[in-house]
Amino acid sequence: MHYIKLNDGHEIPVLGFGTYKAKEEEGIVAVQEALQAGYRLLDTAAKYENEEHVGKGIQKSGIPREEVIITTKLWRENLGYEETKMAFEKSLKKLAVDYIDLYLIHWPANAKNYANWQQANADAWRVMEDLQAQGKIKSIGVSNFWPEHLEALLQTTRVVPAINQIEFHPGYWQPEVVSFCRSHGIAIQSWSPLARGKVFGNPVLESIALKHGKTVSQVCLRWVLQHDAIVIPKSTTLARIQENLLIFDFNLSEQDMHAIDSLPEMGFSGELPNEWPDRV
Ligand SMILES: NC(=O)c1ccc[n+]([C@@H]2O[C@H](COP(=O)([O-])OP(=O)(O)OC[C@H]3O[C@@H](n4cnc5c(N)ncnc54)[C@H](OP(=O)(O)O)[C@@H]3O)[C@@H](O)[C@H]2O)c1
Repeated sequence: MHYIKLNDGHEIPVLGFGTYKAKEEEGIVAVQEALQAGYRLLDTAAKYENEEHVGKGIQKSGIPREEVIITTKLWRENLGYEETKMAFEKSLKKLAVDYIDLYLIHWPANAKNYANWQQANADAWRVMEDLQAQGKIKSIGVSNFWPEHLEALLQTTRVVPAINQIEFHPGYWQPEVVSFCRSHGIAIQSWSPLARGKVFGNPVLESIALKHGKTVSQVCLRWVLQHDAIVIPKSTTLARIQENLLIFDFNLSEQDMHAIDSLPEMGFSGELPNEWPDRV
C-alpha cells in the first residue's frame, strides 16, 4: 500500500475503502474482507448508520486496530460546540474504539440552512481541535467544503484541515476546489470515484482500460491517484474489492489523463455544498 503524508505529519494510505450503504451483516463482511485483502483506510460516517458494523468488521478481520486508519464524520445537524462533543463520543462507542484517526465535518453549514453558518462550522472545528490536542483524534478535516466555506473557517482555525473529502470522479472533479485546497496544503480525498457506477459504459474510459489491460474501475481509481488525491471506492462484492486494489502496476499517460479530465459532466450527485440539504 502507498501512503501520503498529511499537513499534520500523519501518513495515510492513498487507497481506502468506502462503506456508504454497506450495513448490517453485508457491511461487516465487506469490511472484514477489505482489511484481509489489504485495505488499511476505512471511510464511514455517523450518517451512514453503520459505524457499529464497521467496528465489528475490524474486530472480525483480526487486523490490529492500530494498523487501521478509521475515518468517520460529524453530520451537519450536529454542528455546534456541545453537539459535536456528544456526536464524537457516540461515534467512538459505536465503532468500539478509543480514538479516531481521521474525523471530518461531513457537510458545511451553509447560508441556506444556518443563520450563522460560519459560527456553526467554527464551533464544531474548535471541539475537533481540542479533541485532537487530547489525542482522541489524530487528524481533523472537512468534507464537501467549497473555498467560501474554507475561507470562513480559516479565519478562526488553529489547525488547518488535513483533508477535504469531495465528490471527485470522471465527469465531475471540481478543479477549482482542488486547486484552492492545494494552495492551502489540504489533501484531497475523492468520494464516489466511480460515480456510484455511472462511469461504466463510457467509451473513452473503456478504450483507455482496454489499452492498459485494466478495467474501467481501475482506470478511474488510477486517474484519481495521478491527480495526487486519495481514493475510497466502495464495494460489497469480494471480486471487486480485490480488483480495486490493483491500481499500482500501471500508469495513465498525459493524453489519457487529459482525455479523462475533459469528459463532459457525468454522474454528478446533484448535491451542492452551498445549497444542499436546504434545511437542517
Ligand atoms: N463525504 C461525503 O459526503 C461522501 C458522499 C458519498 C460517498 N462518500 C464515501 O465515498 C465512498 C465511495 O463512494 P460511493 O459509495 O458513493 O460510490 P463509488 O465508490 O463511486 O461506487 C460504488 C458502486 O460501484 C460499484 N463498484 C465498486 N467497484 C466496482 C468494480 N470494480 N466494478 C463494478 N462496479 C463496482 C459498487 O457495487 P457493489 O458494492 O455492489 O460491488 C457500488 O454500487 C462511500 O462509500 C463513502 O464512504 C462520502
